[in-house]
Amino acid sequence: MKSFIKTLVETPGPSGSEQVIREVIRAEIAPFVDELKVDALGNLIARKGLKQAGGMKVMLSAHMDEIGVMATHIDDNGFVRFITIGGVHPRTCIGGRVIFMNGIHGVIYAEKSDTPEKYPAIENLYIDVGAKSKADCAIRVGDTAGFDRPFLDLGDRLVAKSMDNRISAAVLVETLKQVKQTPNELYFVFSTQEEVGLRGATAAAFGVDPELGLAVDVTATGDTPKGIKMEVSLGKGPTIKVRDSSFISDPRLVRWMVATAEKLGLPYQLEVLEAGGTDGRAIQLTRAGVPASCVSIPCRYIHSPSEMVDYQDVIHAVHLLVGLVSQPFHLE
Ligand code: CO
Ligand code: ZN
Repeated sequence: MKSFIKTLVETPGPSGSEQVIREVIRAEIAPFVDELKVDALGNLIARKGLKQAGGMKVMLSAHMDEIGVMATHIDDNGFVRFITIGGVHPRTCIGGRVIFMNGIHGVIYAEKSDTPEKYPAIENLYIDVGAKSKADCAIRVGDTAGFDRPFLDLGDRLVAKSMDNRISAAVLVETLKQVKQTPNELYFVFSTQEEVGLRGATAAAFGVDPELGLAVDVTATGDTPKGIKMEVSLGKGPTIKVRDSSFISDPRLVRWMVATAEKLGLPYQLEVLEAGGTDGRAIQLTRAGVPASCVSIPCRYIHSPSEMVDYQDVIHAVHLLVGLVSQPFHLE
């Protein structure tokens, strides 16, 4: 899986500009699905199987967009001002690099500050794409960029600028490939615009009209020096989400997921994420409501250029998802 993960994390695709990453995923999954379509929001929706006795229409969703920036203004000297796409903190920007969807690279730096002990605001940052003047600058207002950092393989620990959420896209692709027989009608959704408010999954959930939903995303950990208080660590298994700040998982589904993990002998962690949301909310609140939860990959340094996950957690997440979707769900 590692070489596909490298391809996924190194492909730029900020929210609203998912056209390239979508084609990467489409090419990978096309031989393994029964039906494939792209909806008006740009969601890639793959169906596998048809509903049989005891089965359900199940939507699995991993967002394929990532955080990034959008150009707002180019000054006379060719410096690009920008706004953020999703949750980008200035501390992760200065000295960093971006790649625009037209292939142009740039570096981010900051104006001189009168209060150097404070982080600058985004409006005090700019992107230098090497242009000598406005006329020489290849960036137009509205152009978008992702952060630019190569994939790093530390053995079990993998690092990249977009583990959120390409690692889950990789998990969903692998799950799709490994599912052999299922009574369920499975919809694998690679959703758009999650980082700006679950917009792709909101439309996809309405369109798919599922009876049960599972998001796949990253979650924070509490295992770094003086980090947040959270009972999730890298390497102790994928998490079964109980709650995040966007939704509360269906408790019957959580019990079923726990029972399945235990039956399969897979490590898992229960997740209560204090700050953060997922596509699970969009599925749960579509139409008249849908039982939903989320399988998460523990991830350090989320929304930084060096997000870190554990490869064994990734493998175990695939096994858990394959186990879950290959049999009937029992909610009680
Ligand atoms: Co995110
Ligand atoms: Zn995410």
